[in-house]
Amino acid sequence: MKVTWKLPDGREVSAEVDEGQSLMEAAVANTVPGVIGECGGCLSCATCHVYVDAAWLDRTGSVEDFEDAMLDIAAAERRPESRLSCQIEVHPDLDGLVLNVPEI
Ligand code: FES
Repeated sequence: MKVTWKLPDGREVSAEVDEGQSLMEAAVANTVPGVIGECGGCLSCATCHVYVDAAWLDRTGSVEDFEDAMLDIAAAERRPESRLSCQIEVHPDLDGLVLNVPEI
């Protein structure tokens, strides 16, 4: 499945990603600048913050309570399309997904 990360400077990183990994793991594996994943996906850092492209919001699931709380302390501005990418698992419905990396 292909995922594209759009960077704040206009560059894009596209990669083939495996089903079952998180979008944070996929970003780190592809050295996407700005997606750090410092806590390894245990919801304690918010360094995996991304903005889901509006066209994909209905396919990326909902924000659970703890993710919601962590998004409030993310370094970049929180928006309605904000997600912690360690909490989104790659699945076939996400083929072609576009994520915007916040400027921090
Ligand atoms: S990797 Fe730390 S909250 Fe997502």
